Amino acid sequence: MAGWVMAHRGSNRRRNLWVVSLLDVQPTDRVLEIGFGPGLAIAELARRATRGHIYGIDHSEVMVHQAGKRNAAAIRAQRVELLHTSVDRLPRLNEPLDVIVAVNSAGFWPNPAEQLSELRGLLRPGGRIALASQPRCAGATADTTAQAGRELHNLLTQAGFTQPRMETLNLNPPVVCVLATT
Ligand SMILES: C[S@@+](CC[C@H](N)C(=O)[O-])C[C@H]1O[C@@H](n2cnc3c(N)ncnc32)[C@H](O)[C@@H]1O
Repeated sequence: MAGWVMAHRGSNRRRNLWVVSLLDVQPTDRVLEIGFGPGLAIAELARRATRGHIYGIDHSEVMVHQAGKRNAAAIRAQRVELLHTSVDRLPRLNEPLDVIVAVNSAGFWPNPAEQLSELRGLLRPGGRIALASQPRCAGATADTTAQAGRELHNLLTQAGFTQPRMETLNLNPPVVCVLATT
């Protein structure tokens, strides 16, 4: 049910498409999404990285199933690979990644500082990361979003990422996305 709501709520769709649009994904990019939920961003990433490869990890079996149905054609074409695992048990990937993205996910990770350091090691030099948050707690406002943005910014810089840049999408509540490079 939560997955269905996430997939069909207009603001969820908009925030996922918006975050992917900020990443300047190239046709040959190798991308990892963490916590893909119903797989909206995965579908948009696959639409852009036509000759690349999209990996996704999510620790919910239900989400892997739902996102798998949504992205079935790209999975069959071996352009998308969805794995049932947690961010603290990252899969071994044979080549460095160009892009890592997580939308409304980092807040659930067991140890984001540690996991971001590990994720930095999966990116090629000059690789990019985007962490986005649209606070869903009761009474969330633009201030809640701004605070989430500051936290994501600090986590990224503490993990050694550089050139952090913050973007905001004016939904209710707003979405913040912090982008950075290795
Ligand atoms: C709020 S949902 C967001 C889903 C999707 N990114 C979106 O914006 O529609 C959070 C997702 O992160 C996943 N998640 C939470 N903790 C995780 C972890 N430790 N490792 C991998 N995925 C995790 C959940 O299963 C869920 O699918």
